[in-house]
Amino acid sequence: MKTTMFNRKYCGKLRTTDIGQEMTVCGWAAKRRDLGQLIFIDLRDRTGVLQLAFDDNTDKAVFETASAVRGEFVLKARGILRERAAKNPELPTGDVELEVTTLEILAKSETPPFEITENSDVNDALRLKYRYLDLRRPDMQRYIALRHRAVKVVRDYFDENGFLEIETPILTKSTPEGARDYLVPSRVHPGKFYALPQSPQQYKQLLMLAGFDRYMQIVRCFRDEDLRADRQPEFTQIDLEMSFVDVEDVMEINEGFVKRLWKEVLDVQIETPIVRLTWREAMDRFGSDKPDLRFGLELCDISAIVKSCEFKVFSEPVANGGSVRMIYVPDGASMPRKQIDTLVEFVKTYGAKGLAWTKLNEDGSVSSSYSKFLIEEENEAILKCAGAKPGGLILIVADAKDDVVFASLGALRCECAKRMELLKEGEYKFAWITEFPLFEYSEEDERYVAKHHPFTAPMDEDADLLETDKLNCRAKAYDLVLNGTELGGGSIRINTPELQEKMFRALGFTNEAAQAQFGHLINAFKFGAPPHGGIAFGLDRIAMHLAGLSSIRDVIAFPKVQNASELMTGCPDVVDQSQLTELGVQLAARMESE
Ligand code: AMO
Ligand code: AMP
Repeated sequence: MKTTMFNRKYCGKLRTTDIGQEMTVCGWAAKRRDLGQLIFIDLRDRTGVLQLAFDDNTDKAVFETASAVRGEFVLKARGILRERAAKNPELPTGDVELEVTTLEILAKSETPPFEITENSDVNDALRLKYRYLDLRRPDMQRYIALRHRAVKVVRDYFDENGFLEIETPILTKSTPEGARDYLVPSRVHPGKFYALPQSPQQYKQLLMLAGFDRYMQIVRCFRDEDLRADRQPEFTQIDLEMSFVDVEDVMEINEGFVKRLWKEVLDVQIETPIVRLTWREAMDRFGSDKPDLRFGLELCDISAIVKSCEFKVFSEPVANGGSVRMIYVPDGASMPRKQIDTLVEFVKTYGAKGLAWTKLNEDGSVSSSYSKFLIEEENEAILKCAGAKPGGLILIVADAKDDVVFASLGALRCECAKRMELLKEGEYKFAWITEFPLFEYSEEDERYVAKHHPFTAPMDEDADLLETDKLNCRAKAYDLVLNGTELGGGSIRINTPELQEKMFRALGFTNEAAQAQFGHLINAFKFGAPPHGGIAFGLDRIAMHLAGLSSIRDVIAFPKVQNASELMTGCPDVVDQSQLTELGVQLAARMESE
């Protein structure tokens, strides 16, 4: 590769085979060691570091320039590569150094606010304020480069499989995906707003109507929602849609995709077909629709055992339509009482009212928070159900709401796995979750809402339940899950205007409201919509897993923080009154005074 006007060599690539060559290198001064007669500078570029050496034989003026170099100065050095006297086996270039003949300071640098080294322990706010410096760190450079490689595989794979990459608008009409929209006021149409896309859902479906058959796009999506480690307000989807397909076809093409991706980026072989679990099974066994399958600690329903017991904490939730479930942690009895208390607090953050536990100590004794309230048969039945052995720990949650039991035990099994060190690095457990419910009841809106989105088709055998038994109506929807995170989700879509209208009715839309919001789609479906379906993956999440990280921030060059601001530029920010006036936007009095 030719490297620009300086015709330079990359620092990190130089090896003993290059010894004797005269060359130019450019980069940042990562480290300078001044030993009086000897100066060493570690020069860093995108590929790594190279030691520059200045000694008795160095031209005096050059030596003086080297003395003036400080951290993060930008340098251009020319010289001859030679074998290093004191080799550094830690460094890929540790056998060589550049004997510098000319040195130019291309730019000076102030003292950076933190040291630019791998894994340095700097607080996040400072890192993000000076993100360009943070990005100079070798690990960040690696993550960003890895993301690039992943994107390349995505484009290659889908191109080879006949997908066309087609761009869709960013200034759009609102598409509901469950989060709030980011709105953009229109200057030309005062009082009207564009919405930034939460996903290109409707456009990609219309592309199927248009006959494009296989669409893909690496696309930015915007969602105004509460942020977490795997959520950003703007993020990137690998968005796909296919015509004349059913659930199996979408899964198959995407299994090929993740297999190729993991092979090419990490040289890791993913076994296919990927494990499949229905949503029901995932909830019952793991308490989650994105189960981490790297460990067991499965849930077990003990409602039947305790439904008529004297202990009201257990019997009442069952009587009130909820359940009592447990997980069993082999070797969990090694957790001291204090740690168990923290588990009790842990489940409370998921809405549980408490956590009942039994410790089977190694010496055969048993301690328990609830056993005295149960009769012997009930206690025995619970131990038997758990397959409990000395050393084990039983953890039980009872609640009148199944959702609370699942959420708290689902999270608890992951927490216990972490504490018991059951998670191995470099292990990738994929799973497809299928047969999601089509609807869920929203307490907030006091109505049924689409669990995925309103264009998702019901399973053929459940089509009648759309009107009669919404909560038991299953969808042709699927998620791809990896190690407890949802990598992607999609569905087979409704493709007739009749069914789409029925769906809107089921969601509580009047005909007028459905026309106003989705008229374009309802009308389009009158002109021949092929059966179609697709999926969207979170590219940031995929890159995070490929890089072995636990936050998507580290694979995004300029991410936002928890409160959706960007610390480097300081956006969002106030704008000129004149801009607002032009847009016909007036701030509420309260905000103007702030
Ligand atoms: P869904 O809403 O499930 O589906 O989104 C698809 C995938 O996008 C990723 N994702 C996010 N990543 C980072 N930050 C966020 N805030 C965020 N929100 C979502 C997740 C998720 O699995 N149109 C449908 C897809 C379809 O039906 O084809 C959709 O957007 O990895
Ligand atoms: P108490 O009668 O309040 O002392 O509770 C006895 C045990 O039951 C304690 O260990 C509590 O933490 C536990 N407990 C209380 N509420 C629940 C619940 N909803 N699910 C499971 N255990 C609970």
